Amino acid sequence: MKKITKAVIPVAGFGTRFLPFTKAMPKEMLPIIDKPTIQYIVEEAVKSGITDILFVTAAHSNKRSIEDHFDTNLELEMLLEKKGKEDFLKEIKELSSLANIQYIRQKEAKGLGDAILCSKTFVGSDSFAVLLGDDVVVGDVPAIGQLIKAYETKESSIMGVQEVKKEDVNKYGIVSLDNCEGNLEKMNDFVEKPNANDAPSNKAVLGRYILTPTIFEYLKTQKEGTGNEIQLTDAVKRMMGKEDVYAFAFEGKRYDIGDKLGFLKATVDFALQREGLKEDFRKFLETKI
Ligand code: G1P
Repeated sequence: MKKITKAVIPVAGFGTRFLPFTKAMPKEMLPIIDKPTIQYIVEEAVKSGITDILFVTAAHSNKRSIEDHFDTNLELEMLLEKKGKEDFLKEIKELSSLANIQYIRQKEAKGLGDAILCSKTFVGSDSFAVLLGDDVVVGDVPAIGQLIKAYETKESSIMGVQEVKKEDVNKYGIVSLDNCEGNLEKMNDFVEKPNANDAPSNKAVLGRYILTPTIFEYLKTQKEGTGNEIQLTDAVKRMMGKEDVYAFAFEGKRYDIGDKLGFLKATVDFALQREGLKEDFRKFLETKI
């Protein structure tokens, strides 16, 4: 079996939940303390053994700043060297050699399924990982690494899930399982953003997937679904007719960074963990409660 080393990260969204910030800046560049959220996602992938990353980007919202962030900046490196700022220099250099990163543009905002279809040539005949930028997950073992391990036992597509509140099922792709006992179970249904009363469960896909290349056969012919978009969920559901698809309940605390409250929660939690910041920040918070 070939190891999973490729990841696709769609970054083409308009980020309307974060307007006006996202008018001229991509939501992926929103910082949690001092790192853009997209860097946490890339670091998770790299820690999980990913060496090749494709960003599916767009012409709007200055998405080029994402390319610049992961590229070398010789002028800055020279400046840091001259000023003797060794730590920053090391960090900046590491950042531009994290992975082999490629870019492709999605021509129209036609949905997540269409964005993944743009990665067909990059992926070729390999199974691959998908990470969505809105979901930042913190834990001992990186979330996508847990899915890659699960893939190694099944050699099938795996959706990364966690339970969400009943009132929130309408925000996610919701899975239905044959058996709910273990953390890796075969799926028998997959519904995009169901109403709370029609949802087959409260297990939601939270931005982490392993897909076999079979998915492209279904994405190519996928019709628009929820929100008049080409949904990855619908193509995966059709693929379930041909090959087994599993859901894996990954461990880790997940933050919905695309949501203002989720973003603030992440900022506070990360600051309370950050050396050199946490003590003063805690004292400041205590004065607020
Ligand atoms: C997308 C997927 C959905 C998934 C969610 C996770 O929805 O379509 O199935 O549960 O990401 O964040 P979006 O948030 O892009 O509307």
